[in-house]
Amino acid sequence: MREILRLEHIQKYYGNVGNITKAIRDISFSVEEGEFTGIMGASGSGKTTLLNCISTIDTVSAGQIYLDGQDVTEISEKDIARFRRENLGFIFQDFNLLDTLTVSENIALALTINKVPAGEIDARVSEIARKLDILSVLDKYPYQISGGQKQRCACARAVVNHPKLILADEPTGALDSHSSRMLLGTISGLNEQMNATILMVTHDAFSASYARRILFLRDGEIFTEIRRGNESRRVFFDKILDVLTMMGGSTDAVS
Ligand SMILES: Nc1ncnc2c1ncn2[C@@H]1O[C@H](COP(=O)(O)OP(=O)(O)O)[C@@H](O)[C@H]1O
Ligand SMILES: [Mg+2]
Repeated sequence: MREILRLEHIQKYYGNVGNITKAIRDISFSVEEGEFTGIMGASGSGKTTLLNCISTIDTVSAGQIYLDGQDVTEISEKDIARFRRENLGFIFQDFNLLDTLTVSENIALALTINKVPAGEIDARVSEIARKLDILSVLDKYPYQISGGQKQRCACARAVVNHPKLILADEPTGALDSHSSRMLLGTISGLNEQMNATILMVTHDAFSASYARRILFLRDGEIFTEIRRGNESRRVFFDKILDVLTMMGGSTDAVS
């Protein structure tokens, strides 16, 4: 297996002397190609900070983050936008589809900006749209399609560029349980059928149970890690609840 992501002793402090928040105290882990990793932890445990440091939206206070061998903490400001477009996919909580673009144009955006030839863009968009069953709505605008189609459009956009890593911060945070299940099914599909490498932050045990491996954060450190192995999602879900109980009184782990 090929290592895609490696974090070495990441620290992230906010504020200044006398008033410091240690959002990340010391975190190290690595992710292999094709892994679907969940990051869990109570509110304030550092999940979003961790994801933002990996995605270069935030900067670390100390430590190294390697994406496919490249130290992302060293990328200069002028190269950052391109680095993200070429290497990362994002699934946002509100999907972030642009209302003035068609579904097809939304999916193709990063490719268009990266000046991929038009013929190749069309081929790639069609291929991913077919896999995610949104071929029939490619020429529609976001307001003309269903919630489930919007989700799949957002997932198509995240994966169309064959990113090295897909990042999602609480993607189901604003969804009802039916919509959450649909989105989690689609995200699992990106992982299982397209071998996408996914890092998904969630404070919710049900959402986390779709991942194959979970890192549990507490106070800016990794408390423990578990893997699903060959177990069912149901059994994994119960294990997640056990860990949360062991970590002490997480009350927001409802399914
Ligand atoms: N921009 C910021 N400035 C100051 N403190 C912050 C900032 N972002 C996060 N924090 C603090 O860092 C800690 C971790 O926050 P966060 O990563 O958002 O946690 P989570 O996503 O797990 O809820 C919290 O104590 C939070 O208040
Ligand atoms: Mg957060």
